[in-house]
Amino acid sequence: MELDTVSMGSTGLRVSELALGTARFGSERGDDGDVEIDRETAHDILDRYAAAGGNFLDLADVYGGGDAERYVGDWLDDRDRESFVIASKIYWPTREADPNGDGLNRKHLRRQLTRILDRLGTDYLDLLYIHRWDDATPAREFLRTLDEFVSDGRVHYLGASNRAPNAWQVAMANEIARREGYEPFTQSQIVFNLVDRQVEPEYLPMVEEYGLGLMPFSPLAGGFLTGKYGRGETPPAGSRGDREERFRETYLTAENFDVLDTVETIATERDTSPVCVSLAWLSAHPAVTAPVIGPRTVAQLEENLAAAELTLTDTEFDRLDEAAPAPY
Ligand SMILES: NC(=O)c1ccc[n+]([C@@H]2O[C@H](COP(=O)([O-])OP(=O)(O)OC[C@H]3O[C@@H](n4cnc5c(N)ncnc54)[C@H](OP(=O)(O)O)[C@@H]3O)[C@@H](O)[C@H]2O)c1
Repeated sequence: MELDTVSMGSTGLRVSELALGTARFGSERGDDGDVEIDRETAHDILDRYAAAGGNFLDLADVYGGGDAERYVGDWLDDRDRESFVIASKIYWPTREADPNGDGLNRKHLRRQLTRILDRLGTDYLDLLYIHRWDDATPAREFLRTLDEFVSDGRVHYLGASNRAPNAWQVAMANEIARREGYEPFTQSQIVFNLVDRQVEPEYLPMVEEYGLGLMPFSPLAGGFLTGKYGRGETPPAGSRGDREERFRETYLTAENFDVLDTVETIATERDTSPVCVSLAWLSAHPAVTAPVIGPRTVAQLEENLAAAELTLTDTEFDRLDEAAPAPY
């Protein structure tokens, strides 16, 4: 199977219809020093994604404490960097006990961009997101700094990533950018999936108004929408549900299992998997550019990639909308 490319929002750049997330590359699994995705598995996942025509890599300076960027940088040593669209993010703390070691202040942004490029072994990022909004730094300060990165060629496009759908912040930032002549945010990243549709009432209209690309993260609700969790059952050993209490509290709810019932029924009818149904639903949304998938193994990646071949019918969309109504 071969992934198609799509326009990255209203820019001229073409990206794969599925972006590859790297949040678990090198991230610690427990106290024994084990990591969720080690270098070798990361390289296997990257190989398979690239072989399927994937070109869109989603990183952040904090993933694996910088190891995600190191793993990708090592992998790129034997590749043509120009063939890939590389995104990273800055905001979260990177220096313990340093009052300037986090956020979007100019000092942290400049230091982190230098470190990101160094770890990746590249001269530029295709896309730099603010990983979160920073209430402590004036928007004009970080927008001007980001604009400098674009002007000096080290960053090509800017994006805003949010956890809560604070559409007004992105809109305000882009109005400041317009007034000051700075590069605006042209991309966005936020949680969006069949069991979390809180972006729909306000954030998505903002995305469409500003012509932003949208890269939804956690498209499978951290694995809940794969169907591997059952009502009242112990999560499979080693799964995110097994490892993370926050996951269990967020996703293993009665309402979510009701949504999953419909996803699983459609998957059975179409002789496919809940993964494919969930990703196909999200990819088809007119506001969505490329969901950011986060497979932990090559086998999981294969199942995620298969979604690119599934097109749902209007009736199936209606059934999913009925099962998982948007919050308005
Ligand atoms: N901007 C942000 O703040 C932000 C936040 C979160 C994520 N992200 C980005 O989005 C990416 C994806 O996020 P996510 O990992 O939450 O995405 P997700 O697709 O919702 O969940 C991925 C997890 O689901 C499970 N899974 C995936 N495919 C499977 C399959 N076929 N069978 C069984 N289990 C499967 C795996 O977990 P287990 O096997 O471990 O159970 C996998 O790690 C991240 O890597 C990162 O790049 C960004």
